[in-house]
Amino acid sequence: VAQGAVDLLVHNVGTLITMRGAPGPRSGAGMAEIGAVAGGAVAIADGLILAAGREEDVRDQIAGRAILQELDAQGRLLTPGLIDPHTHLVHGGSREHELALKLRGVSYLEILAQGGGILSTVEMTRAATEDELYAKAKKSLDTMLLHGATTVEAKSGYGLTLEDELKQLRVAKRLQETHAVDVVSTFMGAHAVPKEYKGCADAYVELVTGVMLPEVKRLGLAEFCDVFCEHGVFTVDQSRAILRAARALGFGLKIHADEIESLCGAELAAELGCISAEHLLAATDEGLNAMAQAGVVAVCLPATSFNLCASRHARARAMIEMGVPVALATDDNPGSSPTESLQLVMTLACLHLRMTPEEVITALTINAAHAIGRADRVGSLEVGKQADLVLYDAQNLAYLPYHFGINHVDTVVKKGRIVVT
Ligand code: NIG
Ligand code: FE
Repeated sequence: VAQGAVDLLVHNVGTLITMRGAPGPRSGAGMAEIGAVAGGAVAIADGLILAAGREEDVRDQIAGRAILQELDAQGRLLTPGLIDPHTHLVHGGSREHELALKLRGVSYLEILAQGGGILSTVEMTRAATEDELYAKAKKSLDTMLLHGATTVEAKSGYGLTLEDELKQLRVAKRLQETHAVDVVSTFMGAHAVPKEYKGCADAYVELVTGVMLPEVKRLGLAEFCDVFCEHGVFTVDQSRAILRAARALGFGLKIHADEIESLCGAELAAELGCISAEHLLAATDEGLNAMAQAGVVAVCLPATSFNLCASRHARARAMIEMGVPVALATDDNPGSSPTESLQLVMTLACLHLRMTPEEVITALTINAAHAIGRADRVGSLEVGKQADLVLYDAQNLAYLPYHFGINHVDTVVKKGRIVVT
């Protein structure tokens, strides 16, 4: 058999986290199985993984092939590229003025009810040109990549008119076409009720279902649809109507559920067969059990509960025990979670959600891939998958959440190309 060259061989990896394992999202004890290999290597050709595992085995598998480039990992830690399955990447402006309000005890939902919060970002996003939104989101995406993210989900939801939602989604598409990081697009026209529709939320829901969703579909600008189901935002019935309309058009479904108040959003996620449900701080046991049955991935957002000074955090331990697959994300947005750092999320997931480092890396790789329908391509180091890798200036996995607040990333490989060094 004629064999081509190896484009890149990463060798001398002290700890190689492959995430190899059973297909499907990982739950329960499966979240601790990370396929760790001591003394590993990864061989890459045409942007894909040719072989990954013990260095001797990998070298055997590529024997006789030319090796065009080598990267000596110097005995350090290597994981699959990190995946951020929940961000509000594209938006105008920032909201540091809310910090003072928060310190005075004004709650997140109070700020929103007064026309601030999400609605102030809506003003700034509407006022921004597409190029301005692109430049700002690109800068954030650059930061995410520097911190180890190689695939990122991005939601709209700060336009809340057809044109302004499309503007945000076109920016996400342009980033997907131009940036090293893969961007997965979600339409979230139901992120808040815009001020023009104050008091007539049902009419806005009709605009979302009757006009926005079909147009987003026609233009192919999003793969998923998400809704903020919360007291004072969209009710369970409104959320159900929006997600059903989205499902009928072929969108995958996501829901911001039971973040602040318990509205049985987790139950709704299970009922509708959502691919993921987000936040879930106030989810009931019944809701979590229903999610486990339906195979809905829980996307926990510990940077958000941290930044909102919430009195509680998502019950990741209960989720894991009940068999709910858990993923983690930054929720990067200008209000509740202004951060691009999945490494900060690692620390908060350990300390506030009581997840182990093994569970955390599962949540940020293979389970995050499942949460955005990309597990066939990314999330683990398996033959034929995209060669997305992160090499850290660390010897072992626990060091990442342990030594917090700094960036441990040394090198990032995306689709076989060294993009951060
Ligand atoms: O996921 N919860 C709703 N949406 C975002 C916050 C957006 C904002 O405050 O601008 C979230 O936390
Ligand atoms: Fe969010």
